[in-house]
Amino acid sequence: MERSRTHTCGELRKEHAGEAAVLMGWVHRVRDQGGIVFIDLRDRYGTTQVVVEPGGPVSLDVAREFKREYVAEVRGTVRLRPEEMANRNLQTGEVELVAEELVLLNRCVTPPFVVEDDTDASEEIRLQYRFLDLRRPKMQKLIELRHHAAGVVRRYLSDKGFLEIETPLLVRNSPEGARDFLVPSRLSKGKFYSLPQSPQIYKQILMVSGCDRYFQIAKCLRDEDLRADRQPEFSQIDIELSFTTEGEVFDIMDGLLAAIWKEAGGGDISTPIPVISHAEAMAKYGSDKPDIRFGMEIQDISELAARSEFRAFRAVIEGGGTVRAIAAPGGASLSRREIDGLEETAKRAGAKGLAWCRVSEGKLDGGVGRFFDHEALTAAAGASTGDLVVMVAADEKTALSSLGQVRLALGGRLAPPSAGDFRFLWVNRFPLFEWDDEGERWEPAHHMFTLPYDDEIEFLETDPGRVHARLYDMTLNGVEIASGSIRCHDPELQRRIMSVVGIRGEEADRRFGFLLNALSYGAPPHGGIAFGWDRLITLLAGGDSIRDVIPFPKTTSGLSPMDGSPSDVEEELLADLGLRLLPRKED
Ligand code: AMO
Repeated sequence: MERSRTHTCGELRKEHAGEAAVLMGWVHRVRDQGGIVFIDLRDRYGTTQVVVEPGGPVSLDVAREFKREYVAEVRGTVRLRPEEMANRNLQTGEVELVAEELVLLNRCVTPPFVVEDDTDASEEIRLQYRFLDLRRPKMQKLIELRHHAAGVVRRYLSDKGFLEIETPLLVRNSPEGARDFLVPSRLSKGKFYSLPQSPQIYKQILMVSGCDRYFQIAKCLRDEDLRADRQPEFSQIDIELSFTTEGEVFDIMDGLLAAIWKEAGGGDISTPIPVISHAEAMAKYGSDKPDIRFGMEIQDISELAARSEFRAFRAVIEGGGTVRAIAAPGGASLSRREIDGLEETAKRAGAKGLAWCRVSEGKLDGGVGRFFDHEALTAAAGASTGDLVVMVAADEKTALSSLGQVRLALGGRLAPPSAGDFRFLWVNRFPLFEWDDEGERWEPAHHMFTLPYDDEIEFLETDPGRVHARLYDMTLNGVEIASGSIRCHDPELQRRIMSVVGIRGEEADRRFGFLLNALSYGAPPHGGIAFGWDRLITLLAGGDSIRDVIPFPKTTSGLSPMDGSPSDVEEELLADLGLRLLPRKED
């Protein structure tokens, strides 16, 4: 007879004592205590202890047949556990289900790891057996969290008049920054679709269509080198608004984050979220995504360095460079080895070295301390007794970015973050372009659909590096969680911007003609933003890997160990597409 469960495995409480219940779930553990067999039955909601007693309707031998991860159905009666046998760690721990019938619903071959939160299984194995990995309670909670948070997003934005609109996955090849994944067309042989890096162009076209408030939880696909916080396939909360301003975007997004945090368990966050300019972020934190959970701001000590007895510093200043410093509270206790480690960090970021000294009562110890006057240095660097002062002399960009890295290392060591400390920050007024040393050309700092500030438009062609744009990022605890801008809605200005990054005339029409064309049909002023949804959920959950919040992620080499993709395909399939593979280059 087919039966349904009456309760979940996380539901029974002492109020249910005496009632009949049918549970279905996975065998978490079987404990055979000689005369009595306990089966912990688990599902998404929790675990319940099932008891098979001697002389009862279920034979102990039948119960012993059940192994880890077998699927079982148990009919029985709920019984209160004796006080001293209650398990306080389990929500159902005050009761147990005395089995009257035990049905095997399915067997499980020996699992490669035990399905529980603490696992020593490698990530490779976890991804290969993702169906088992996702059974772990921790992973189930992350799936639920993502679902709840998505619900908050949909409700909040719908209440503000945003429409959820889908955009296509098969699009024209028009890369936004990374490389596109290509999809060969069978019907138009020799031609290709691209998978979208984001819905950027489509959401702008929706603005031209009069859909003045759009959002989508969108899949984005980028064929780029992967890092810990990057996946080739990831999700964004993608948003666009017409007739808007930066202030309005910030306001709505502050509210969105506050709602997600409050309703999905992150707690209250204070709004408005502070805003700093890109220039200020770089000067104070040496990063365009500052972690502001700790201070240790970078100070300019060039004036002092120019007057100091330390020749290396003076030479850099005379050559047009700068000297920047960080005073790290409590850093005087760091060992020489730890300081050497900081120097390595600075060097990896391009600095020639890291000068340092310890600040004690009335004097400077170690490193370059002897070249400086105690009072002058502590005043310039904002240091106090017990601090470590670290300094880099270089061109401004190198000095700031290397100290930015050193600052993060110092923060991790001296001001370890506490869980639940969420520091959001808006960073705005980014430069529109960045100089790419390798390619020897200007690249869009974010993307090229952004509006420059009016008073800098005149420098577009003559001094592109001087032009700032209405670009903004949101960062959380040093991670870029969102990026957006007020867009360029004038097709002529858009062409000028494209030509700075080398996309001129006919090429602009070939690659972006459909956008430029749409913009020329009465495009309203508009702007928007996209949140990295996987990163946001990871931070909300207090985790450290976006792969944990994506049900089926790829490895950092872009592989899926569970289904073995990417894979070879049959010659015939390729022939249908008019494709033939070149011989592979041997490694
Ligand atoms: P951008 O490319 O900055 O902007 O992406 C927006 C946010 O998406 C997240 N993100 C990623 N997350 C995981 N894996 C990746 N490979 C990855 N790449 C980006 C980041 C980032 O801040 N269309 C524009 C948005 C706009 O201007 O409205 C865009 O895609 O958190």
